[in-house]
Amino acid sequence: MKPNFPFIVLKFGGTSVANADRWRVIAQIARNHLSSDRRPIVVCSAVAGVSNALEGLLTAALNNQHEALLHTIETLHAPLLQETGPEGTQVVQDGLSLLNQWATGVAMTGETSPRLQARVMAQGELMSTRLGFIILQKEGLNVAWQDARDILIAEQMAGPPSPKHYLSATCSHETDPASVQRLRAIDAELVLTQGFIARNTSNDTVLLGRGGSDTSAAYISARLSAERCEIWTDVPGMFTANPRRLPSARMLRQLDYEEAQEIASTGAKVLHPRCLLPVRAQQIPMVVRCTTRPDLEGTVITARPTEQGHTVKAISSRSGIVLVSMETVGMWQQVGFLADAFGIFKEHHLSIDLVSTSETNVTVSLDPSGNVLDPTTLRSLIDRLQTICQPTIIDNCASVSLVGRGIRAILHRLAPALELFEEHRIHLVTQASNDLNLTVVVDQAQAERLVQQLHRLLFKDGTTDPVLGPSWSQLFEPSGDSAARPSGEAPWWQQSRDALIELAQQATPVYVYDALTLDRQADALCQLQSVDHALFAMKANPHPEVLKRLHANGLGFECVSSGELHHLRAVLGPEAFAERPILFTPNFAPKEEYEVGFRLGAQVTLDNLHPLEAWPHIFQGQSVFLRVDPGTGRGHHAHVRTAGSRSKFGISLHELDRVHELAQAAGAKITGLHAHSGSGIRTPENWAQLGELLAELLHQFPDVRTIDVGGGLGIPEKPGQLPLDMTALDESLASLGLRERGIQLWIEPGRYCVATAGVLLTRVTQTKTKGDVFYVGVDAGMHSLIRPALYGAYHQIENLSRIDKPRVITANIVGPICESGDTLGHDRHLPRTQEGDVLVVATAGAYGACMASQYNLRGLPIETLLER
Ligand code: LLP
Repeated sequence: MKPNFPFIVLKFGGTSVANADRWRVIAQIARNHLSSDRRPIVVCSAVAGVSNALEGLLTAALNNQHEALLHTIETLHAPLLQETGPEGTQVVQDGLSLLNQWATGVAMTGETSPRLQARVMAQGELMSTRLGFIILQKEGLNVAWQDARDILIAEQMAGPPSPKHYLSATCSHETDPASVQRLRAIDAELVLTQGFIARNTSNDTVLLGRGGSDTSAAYISARLSAERCEIWTDVPGMFTANPRRLPSARMLRQLDYEEAQEIASTGAKVLHPRCLLPVRAQQIPMVVRCTTRPDLEGTVITARPTEQGHTVKAISSRSGIVLVSMETVGMWQQVGFLADAFGIFKEHHLSIDLVSTSETNVTVSLDPSGNVLDPTTLRSLIDRLQTICQPTIIDNCASVSLVGRGIRAILHRLAPALELFEEHRIHLVTQASNDLNLTVVVDQAQAERLVQQLHRLLFKDGTTDPVLGPSWSQLFEPSGDSAARPSGEAPWWQQSRDALIELAQQATPVYVYDALTLDRQADALCQLQSVDHALFAMKANPHPEVLKRLHANGLGFECVSSGELHHLRAVLGPEAFAERPILFTPNFAPKEEYEVGFRLGAQVTLDNLHPLEAWPHIFQGQSVFLRVDPGTGRGHHAHVRTAGSRSKFGISLHELDRVHELAQAAGAKITGLHAHSGSGIRTPENWAQLGELLAELLHQFPDVRTIDVGGGLGIPEKPGQLPLDMTALDESLASLGLRERGIQLWIEPGRYCVATAGVLLTRVTQTKTKGDVFYVGVDAGMHSLIRPALYGAYHQIENLSRIDKPRVITANIVGPICESGDTLGHDRHLPRTQEGDVLVVATAGAYGACMASQYNLRGLPIETLLER
C-alpha cells in the first residue's frame, strides 16, 4: 500500500455482494478511488438472505431441523461460486462444515447461547468476504483480506453477560493509531473486511446488532480517521419520503448529521440510526450512494449546517406504533405521577418513544422496533398501570414525522394537510425539543395519505432548492409507466398506442377496455384454488361488453340494485342466473327491490334487521345471506371503508341472535354469511381475517353453506407499487379449511377485474401558466372521472401522442368543469404538450365511466372494447 494516502471506507450491503457482477461493480468503485489516490477499505455484509438463515440456524438445531437452513445458505452462495472456482467452493464448504458442527452440538446438548449465536452469524460476513476476495483478485486488484475483529474491539458493558453483550455490542469511536499503522503497513492497494462483527476483550466474536454493517463502516472510519465513509446501497441516497411508496419523493443532496440521524430514527431504512454517531464524533462525511447508479452523487452528510436549504427535509413514517393513554384526574400537580408511571414501563422493559401530556392525560408511544409488544407484556403493563390511572391501549397506529431544522417556522403551512383529520383522529402530536421534528400519531390506515398530502404541500414538484435533487420517478422511471406490470412488460395501452390514438381521433373523452386484460384478471381469480366462486361486483363497470367477457371467463356477479339485476339479465340472458351465483347485496334499498331479487333468482343478502321485521312475508321459504359488519374497515379512502360503527353497512355482531330469531319467525333460512371491509386493499391477509371471523359464527347458523369474504382487492395505481400478492391471498384463504367443513368460499371483487383493463383517452384543449403552475387543459374532467376529485385518487397520466419524448414539463392536468376540484392529476411530468395531443389516464376501468355525470351539461364519455 502506498503510505500516506487517506483512507476511504466503502460499505456494501447484502444485495451488493450477492453475485459476481455486483462484485465487479465494487471493483470498479474501488478502482475509481485508487485512481484519485485514496486507500479504499471495503466493508461488506453477508450475501442477502444469509444472515436471516443463520439467525434461525441454532433454534432449528434445537429441533434437529438445521439441514434445510444449511442448504439455503449453500444455495445463496451458489451465484458467486461460478466465478470463484474450486477455491470458492472450499470456502463455502469450510463455512458450512463449521456451522454444521456447531448446529449438531446444539442438537445433541439441547443448549445454545448468545456467544455461539454471534459466532454462527459472523460466518455470513466471513464467507462473503472470502469469496469476494477471490473475485477482486481475479479482477486484477491487489487486495488484502482483513479480519474486522482485529480492528473493532467491543466496549465493555456493565452487568453480567447478557445477549446484548454478544449480539448488540458497541465499539469505541476514538481514532486508533495502532490500527492506522497496521493497515498502512499492509502491502496491498485495497483492504477487504467484514461488517457487523467485532471482538470483545475476552477474544469472543460479538455482533453490532442487525443492520450493523453500516455501523461497522462508521466505526472503522472513526478508528482510522478516514477521509469519508461511503454507504453503497440499492437506493441513491436519502429521500424526502419513502420513494418506494411515493415516487415523487426527491433525493436529498445534503444533510447535516442531526437531520440524517432524525430521518434514520423516524423511519427511513436507508441508514441504520446507530451509524451516525461515530462519524459525527469525528466529523467524517458520510455519503449514501447507489450501487446500480454509481453516476449519482447521493446524499452527503456532514457537520456543515445547510445554508438556505429547504426547512423540512423529509417526511418519514413508522407503522405498528402502539399508544398507551393514561387518564387520571389525580395527576394534576401531583408529585411523582410521571415517575411512577414511567417506572412501570421500565419494569416491563418497554422504552417510551413519544410523550404528550395534559392536565388529566399522559399518552406515550411504544415503537415495535425497539420493544417486544406481545399481548402478555401489554396486559401486564395495563394491570400495573391500573393501580395509578385508567390506561387504554390504542394500537394499529403510525407516526408521521416532519424532519428538518426550524420546523416551528412552517407550522402554518400544514393546515391544508391536516384537514384530513376532520374525519379521523390525530392521537398524539409532539414537537421535538431540538426543533428537528414534528410528529403526529394517527391510525395506520391514514398514514400513507397523510404522508402524500404533506409531501405535496411541502415539496411541490419543480421546487428549486440546492438541497433537493431529482425525484425517484425522474431517476428510475424515465417513461413513468411501471404501474401494474411487475413483469416489466409495457402496459397494454402503450403496446396499443396506435389503435388508441386512432380511436381518440374519432371522439374524446372515451373509455377503452382491453379484452385481453379482462381475460387475464378473470383468469387470475379463477386460479385461486381456495375460492369456489369469484363474482364480479358489477358496480365497478357494468358495460355490456365487459359483463359478457367476464361471464365468458367463468365469473358470477354481485349486484347492488334491481337496476343492476335487470341490466345483467338483459345483457347475459335469464339463463345466466341459473348458471353461476348472482348475489344481490342491497343496502337501504326499498322493499320492491328485495322482491325483484327473489323473483329473478338472485341470492339475496340482508344487511339490516328492518326487512325481516317489517316485511317478513317476502322472506317466507327463501334462503338468505347475512351481511355482517366485521367491525373494522380497510380501504384506499374513508368513503370506501364499509365496516365499523360509523359505516352504514352490515349487521353488528351483537344483533345476530336477533336476526336468527326473526329469520326463523319469517320462515327463512340463513344459508350464507357475507362481509366486505372496503375497497382498494392490498393486504393479502384481509380476506382470510374476514373468513375467520365469519367461520366463528358458523355454530350459530347451522344452515350456512357459503362464506363470502367480499371484494376490495386492490391494484397498483402508482408507479412502483406492488400488486396484491395473489398467492399469499390464496394460501391464507386455504388455511381457513372451509372446504373441509363443507363450506363454499366466495369472493366478489369489482376493481380487480376491470381497473387495469380500462383507460380514459382525452384530448388537450389548451395550456396555461399561472403563477408558478403550468396547466394542461383536457376535454375530460371530474364529470368523466370523479375519482381524483372524490377520493384524491391517483391515476397515471401520459401523453400518448409523445410517449417517447423526454419529460420536460410539470403540469396539473385539469378538466373543463367549473369547480376547483376538477383536476385529474397534480404535478405530473410530461413531454412538452400541445393542443390536440391525446392523453391517456390509466387504471380507469373501475368506477370510471359508471360514475361519470353530465354535470355542467357536458356529455357522458363514450365506452368501447378493444380486441387485440
Ligand atoms: N362487494 C361489496 C359489498 C361492495 O360494497 C363492493 C364495493 C364490492 C364488493 C367491490 O369492491 P372492489 O373489489 O371494487 O373494491 N367508487 C369507489 C369504490 C366503491 C366501492 C363500493 N363497494 C372507487 O372508485 O374507489
